[in-house]
Amino acid sequence: PEAIMVGELANRMAERVADVVKALMQNGMMVTQNQTIDADTAELIVEEFGHRIVRVSDSDVEQVITTSEDKPEDMKPRAPVITIMGHVDHGKTSLLDAIRNAKVVAGEAGGITQHIGAYQVETEAGQKLTFLDTPGHAAFTSMRSRGAQVTDIVVLVVAADDSVMPQTVEAINHAKAAGVPMIVAINKIDKPAADPDKVRAGLLQHEVIVEKMSGEVQDVEVSAHTGQGLDELLESIALQAEILELKANPDRNAEGAVIEAQLDVGRGPVATVLVQKGTLHQGDIFVVGEQWGKVRAMENDRGERVKIAGPSVPVEVLGLNGTPEAGDVLNVVETEAQAREIAEYRAQAAKDKRAAAGAATTLEQLMQKA
Ligand code: GTP
Ligand code: MG
Repeated sequence: PEAIMVGELANRMAERVADVVKALMQNGMMVTQNQTIDADTAELIVEEFGHRIVRVSDSDVEQVITTSEDKPEDMKPRAPVITIMGHVDHGKTSLLDAIRNAKVVAGEAGGITQHIGAYQVETEAGQKLTFLDTPGHAAFTSMRSRGAQVTDIVVLVVAADDSVMPQTVEAINHAKAAGVPMIVAINKIDKPAADPDKVRAGLLQHEVIVEKMSGEVQDVEVSAHTGQGLDELLESIALQAEILELKANPDRNAEGAVIEAQLDVGRGPVATVLVQKGTLHQGDIFVVGEQWGKVRAMENDRGERVKIAGPSVPVEVLGLNGTPEAGDVLNVVETEAQAREIAEYRAQAAKDKRAAAGAATTLEQLMQKA
């Protein structure tokens, strides 16, 4: 059974096509990059390159995890990545700001400006937590569809004076589809019209049963304005994170996900990358989506220059040849030639796909006219 094109296999492993073709030759197979190989052969090659394969069905190599397998003994604890989601105006940004300000050293508070849409705080107990500034539902969905699972925990913010709204339901569905545990933050508890039990009842209708209703989902009453419940919320997050036992190997080539990216007038393309595995170093060569680059400089969430960034650390990366998209996966590779080849392959593949889609539409239009 045909399974995967050689070029596509190389692409998914972030390896050079020539190297994959060579490996196939050494296994007695003479193929070019546009030929397909079966799933068993693909698996053999993938393992030879030290990657891991995930099969969707017997004959279909749907996904090759583009990372080498890490040995259990190399796995070290990492900070949880938390995404705050919820309906418009329910206080997501306010809550993030309140958490950040509460955790910033006194006296520094006013002076700290957030530079990137992600940051790390440290709790009293010394636990580090990485927060993603709500990337919006669209970005979250697109990241998920690209296989970039960036978040470990979703904090669902629901305003106590407003209860469950359409985007609350969307967020619940996203979290469930992604299989990510949820913590409910019932916000604006300081408001006279606050009715937290109404929120709990509203959630129940969407099969989110909070602890106060004898369920398993942690719920915390908070106020971004007064700071009430913030410590409890952080404790809930830390508890949830502990259960997840999150680990990553920091001593390998970095892999990460683009949280946001833009073209900066003075600095060129800039991407905020959440490192998920390994450690990203200044000078590393990487491929990210259809772009590639060499890390020229990195800045942390406080705008400070850093030379390295380990698992769960968000950094702003400079040195890209183009602007990637949110959700694109970054892989560090060995050589510039390799990076360029993979990026070009991906760009061409995307172009072909668009052209094919365009041709199909034209044909359809012609048929309709006929
Ligand atoms: P979008 O990003 O537009 O979806 O909104 P958001 O969810 O980020 O809400 P945001 O933090 O911007 O807050 C919306 C409004 O609610 C602002 O006017 C806040 O001042 C107010 N607000 C947020 N949290 C609280 C709270 O705990 N208590 C009270 N009283 N008001 C709050
Ligand atoms: Mg906001």
